Amino acid sequence: MATTTSVHGMWTTRLAFILAATGSAVGLGNIWRFPYTAGEYGGGAFVLIYLLCVAAIGIPIMMAEIMLGRRGRQSPINTMRTLAQREGKHPAWQLLGWMGIVTGFLILSFYSVVAGWTMAYTVRSATGVFLNIDTAGADAVFGALTGDAERLLAWHTIFMVMCVFVTARGVAGGLEKAVRFLMPTLFLLLVLLVIYSFSTGSFAKAADYLFTPDFSKLSATAVLSAMGQAFFSLSLGMGAIMIYGSYLHSEASIGGNSLIIAGMDSLVAILAGLAIFPIVFANGMQPEQGSGLVFKVLPITFGSMPGGVLFSTLFFVLLVFAAWTSAISLLEPVVAWLVENLGLSRVRAAVLAGVSVWLLGIACLLSLNEWSDVTIFGKGFLDLFDFLTANILLPLGGLLIAIFSGWVLSRAVSVDELALDEGLTYRLWRVLIRYVAPLAVAVVFVAGLI
Ligand code: TRP
Repeated sequence: MATTTSVHGMWTTRLAFILAATGSAVGLGNIWRFPYTAGEYGGGAFVLIYLLCVAAIGIPIMMAEIMLGRRGRQSPINTMRTLAQREGKHPAWQLLGWMGIVTGFLILSFYSVVAGWTMAYTVRSATGVFLNIDTAGADAVFGALTGDAERLLAWHTIFMVMCVFVTARGVAGGLEKAVRFLMPTLFLLLVLLVIYSFSTGSFAKAADYLFTPDFSKLSATAVLSAMGQAFFSLSLGMGAIMIYGSYLHSEASIGGNSLIIAGMDSLVAILAGLAIFPIVFANGMQPEQGSGLVFKVLPITFGSMPGGVLFSTLFFVLLVFAAWTSAISLLEPVVAWLVENLGLSRVRAAVLAGVSVWLLGIACLLSLNEWSDVTIFGKGFLDLFDFLTANILLPLGGLLIAIFSGWVLSRAVSVDELALDEGLTYRLWRVLIRYVAPLAVAVVFVAGLI
């Protein structure tokens, strides 16, 4: 019953899938979002819960998403409908796909704005703005950028055009090549930054902050945010990994690939933390200063480092690429759906989706300046979309994926797709997906939201 190829194309090699999925996972979530949320919730305990969530909830759900995608071979909406029908279950399961589309729109709208900051910082790096900059100077550069709606709009527009461009050409085409070069280089530069941070003298303090859990700081909201960060960072819960799985050849190992992708993603996040926090402490800065953290810290690092202009330019360029390969995966599910259901060409579908996200993004960038007094639940649009997607919509999507894969989909199908021969690994996965993941998400949810 399994279809062997997707109408939207296939990854040319097995490595291409790992690269693309890692490209989706590794992005602003690791380098921008992880450090600032870890800082907001006090470090160690948050990091520990985050890693636990990756291992016990994230990896099993990633396997489930790839499995469902590969079985259905269509956009998440149509995949869910088809798989539910084959099991004789209600087609309403396709709502999971619809929720994913909404979530993807909301995420990309603020993701693109933050990617715009990264582009602006590339230019500032190259022109030497960060040379010998101090904390006050770095604060001022960030404030000037986010206060300027027109600049933000220009960068946001450029970034969305870049995303539409790649998506219109088809995922396998441009993406594979970009990621193959990008991932190793970004990784090397991060290691270099960590080594530099090591020399600042506050490394031990930072390592202690990140790895010694202080459970007295652990509120229910912190646990919810750590779980949300795991979903966000692994690109889970909205169908991005599902659609990438639908382009994966039938022989590839789902479990093995998931371990590699999740492992690299967590490694990059931890490295980013180790690069940022020593500088935070060495300069007497506050870890809990919110979404500007990395943008206020990195200029100081680069500004005082030999060869800083070169390294910082390279770093921000790579970060733009990392954001780009993630953003594409947010657009792909809706583009595939537009092609399948409305018969649009890929180009038209990509433009239509891109323009819609672009409009929503304008609300996000205005929330940083002109509309700073427009708040819902005490948050502007950017922070609201970030909170709502990572902490509510993604875990909810993940919960439904787990229930569907563990309870609705017949056992034979998952045995076949995961190719684990009913062995110990399969049974472990099944326990995690049927009991551990749904219960954990539900409990954290209820506790965190009350
Ligand atoms: N994981 C990406 C990051 O960390 C962001 C991302 C891409 C994402 N696709 C996603 C998040 C799908 C949630 C769902 O930067």
